[in-house]
Amino acid sequence: MRVRSYAKINWSLRITGRRADGYHDLETIFQLISLHDTMAFDRADRMTLTCDDASIPLDQSNLVLRAARALGNPPVKIELRKEIPAGGGLGGGSSNAATTLRALDEMFELHTPAPRLRELALALGSDVPFFLLGGTAYATGRGEVLTPLPPLGGVPLLLVLPEERVSTAEAFGLISSYSKPVGIPRQTLFARPELLVNDFEEPVFASLPRLREHKNALLAAGALWAGMSGSGSTIAGAFETAAERDAARQRFADVRTVAAESIATV
Ligand code: C5P
Repeated sequence: MRVRSYAKINWSLRITGRRADGYHDLETIFQLISLHDTMAFDRADRMTLTCDDASIPLDQSNLVLRAARALGNPPVKIELRKEIPAGGGLGGGSSNAATTLRALDEMFELHTPAPRLRELALALGSDVPFFLLGGTAYATGRGEVLTPLPPLGGVPLLLVLPEERVSTAEAFGLISSYSKPVGIPRQTLFARPELLVNDFEEPVFASLPRLREHKNALLAAGALWAGMSGSGSTIAGAFETAAERDAARQRFADVRTVAAESIATV
């Protein structure tokens, strides 16, 4: 079984409070995007995992191994080909974990009930339940209280991928005040672009000012919307047409960029 494991961006992300369990409540709009890793699952004598990116640790902190363990370590050889940069706010590890849960459940006919699968996903990370759902989704709680939004496929995106990396836990540590949630969007997202904010931007941009420059450069290049994904460091821009996106891409000579688009399903 060969499957794509897609990345995400956040159209908006508000931190709405601190919780007794040490996590934060948030309100976000997740979007699955075309940038993806590829995972191959083949029956074998025992569970093994290989990855083409030597910087990904293959110890028990690895979310793919933890996902497989959560389903009882079925005998499967897993090969992971990485395209999604780690530590960029694109949810690569979380996506790989959700893909593993879904693939192993199907391959070994485990028939895990959907609520149980979502529970296992949340135990692996706050973003993992979204990747079981895909598309566009409004989320509250830690990110697991999910409401699907109307499909929004094919929006041309430019991802700016700075070398700087941001630790999610440290980024949460920079948050000192909380936002009021605005609720489920009633119109198309771009009707009210001013509502699409990311509370991590100000504290993260304060220490990494180049990220703000990338956001401003995307807007100057004609993006309808630009913002940081998750806790960074990826800055994403949405464009009206792929041609405008490709023209904008020429302006980013000194930083890695990836052209992508939103996708409507898993
Ligand atoms: O859930 P996940 O493992 O992705 O979270 C990484 C870290 O980010 C957590 O240890 C926590 O410090 C922080 N976090 C949070 N509130 C959330 C999600 C993550 O405080 N809703």
